[in-house]
Amino acid sequence: MAYMKKNFLLALMVLLLLVVSSYARFNMMVAKGKIESICTKDVNHSLCFEILKPTPEIEKLDFSGLAKFVINYLSRYTSDTLNQVKMFEGNTTGADLQTLQLCAELYDDSLFHNDRALKVLASKDYDNLNTEVGFTLAYTDTCNDELITMKPVPQVLFKKNSDINAMSNIILVILECFIREVKIRC
Ligand SMILES: *[C@@H]1O[C@H](CO)[C@@H](O)[C@H](O)[C@H]1NC(C)=O
Ligand SMILES: *[C@@H]1O[C@H](CO)[C@@H](O)[C@H](O)[C@H]1NC(C)=O
Repeated sequence: MAYMKKNFLLALMVLLLLVVSSYARFNMMVAKGKIESICTKDVNHSLCFEILKPTPEIEKLDFSGLAKFVINYLSRYTSDTLNQVKMFEGNTTGADLQTLQLCAELYDDSLFHNDRALKVLASKDYDNLNTEVGFTLAYTDTCNDELITMKPVPQVLFKKNSDINAMSNIILVILECFIREVKIRC
């Protein structure tokens, strides 16, 4: 009797373990599916998969959480880029210096709009979220047009500016294709 009970408990434990691990696997699959559904849209695929690497932290997030994650990532990346632009300012003069100063100002504004984006995301104000992220998209287009006039074009800054542009696009895709219930723009 005692022997059977022990066997039964053991079997129950094995079953539970199987259930728990397949549930964990299932959750991971859902998370991977989410990331894949975002990164296979009209975004820079490699950059998207690089930012949304399926870590335990990311796997837990819903689409709003993922949007917040990318906005925070974008802010850190923009801060780094701003610092780098300032370093370049030290050895640049004339029209090229004006270009760098303009881009620096735009990145600074972007950081302000990213903070606002986090606030309106938290209050589910999606129209304003689109607007706030749209600022960065427009700023990077402007900065791009200016950077390509520099001689020589600072490739490091050019790439970082493109990355910032691509990151804002990823946020907009998460918003328009996955968060919003009415999908007009996706
Ligand atoms: C996507 O982003 C990566 C990483 O910055 C970059 O190397 C690549 O050129 C980008 N691809 C396109 C199509 O812009
Ligand atoms: C200007 O400064 C930046 C940042 O310190 C550096 O990466 C770049 O190579 C410098 N350019 C020239 C022409 O010295």
